Amino acid sequence: MRRKLIAGNWKMNTDRASAVALAKGIVGGVDKYKAVDLLVCPPAVYLTFVAEVVRGTSVALGAQNMYHEGNGAFTGELSAAMLKDVGCSHVILGHSERRHILGETDAAVNKKTLAALAAGLVPIVCVGELLAEREANKTAAVIRSQFEGSLAGVSAEQIEKVVIAYEPVWAIGTGKVATPQQAEEVHADLRKLLTERYNGQSAAKVRILYGGSVKASNAGELLAQPNIDGALVGGASLKADEFLGIAAGAVG
Ligand code: PGA
Repeated sequence: MRRKLIAGNWKMNTDRASAVALAKGIVGGVDKYKAVDLLVCPPAVYLTFVAEVVRGTSVALGAQNMYHEGNGAFTGELSAAMLKDVGCSHVILGHSERRHILGETDAAVNKKTLAALAAGLVPIVCVGELLAEREANKTAAVIRSQFEGSLAGVSAEQIEKVVIAYEPVWAIGTGKVATPQQAEEVHADLRKLLTERYNGQSAAKVRILYGGSVKASNAGELLAQPNIDGALVGGASLKADEFLGIAAGAVG
């Protein structure tokens, strides 16, 4: 059985005080959700402050991005080791905002994924189609090519540690959520791609999250789908009650 993972991507939101308050609000309510893994991904500058709040609790800490090199002259970048050093266990990679606003390619996401795994961080590798691609019936092809490009060279042993997030770009921050059937179809395709590339046993262990306008009121039916193993949540992760409400949906 795959444990559900509810991950909050705070994006470029909060300030130091509200980040700490949000983390405290979440930590304060986790006792009811022991059956679910919870993760918060604050802006990098607040990682250390949030780390202090979540240390020793069941809430894990993640970053929203990293660079694939270990250290050196890469102005403005952060390495996997640095993220681990401040308490991160996870890192979101290839989020659609990084792909489409900041020009990140599958090749870059792939390097980061391999570096995260080598450093012992769990990469949450995001894939997802644009609205135009869905309308042109290209969803499956786009997902396959992002899967292949972003996860090239990941071994069967490593893939079991990877989390994949399916985030249709047209559903992110728009209030337009994919129907449970639309999401499940892509999740099942991803599971098939994993089985083809690796084997059924490894494929069955990989958690595939859905992201795109998830909130407490729609989480239950999305998370009830057989191949939806959690949620990557943006807007609704900025309120502790709402985020915990999504965790409640994962408990069922
Ligand atoms: P949203 O963002 O929940 O605000 O749609 C999801 C995401 O980008 O991970």
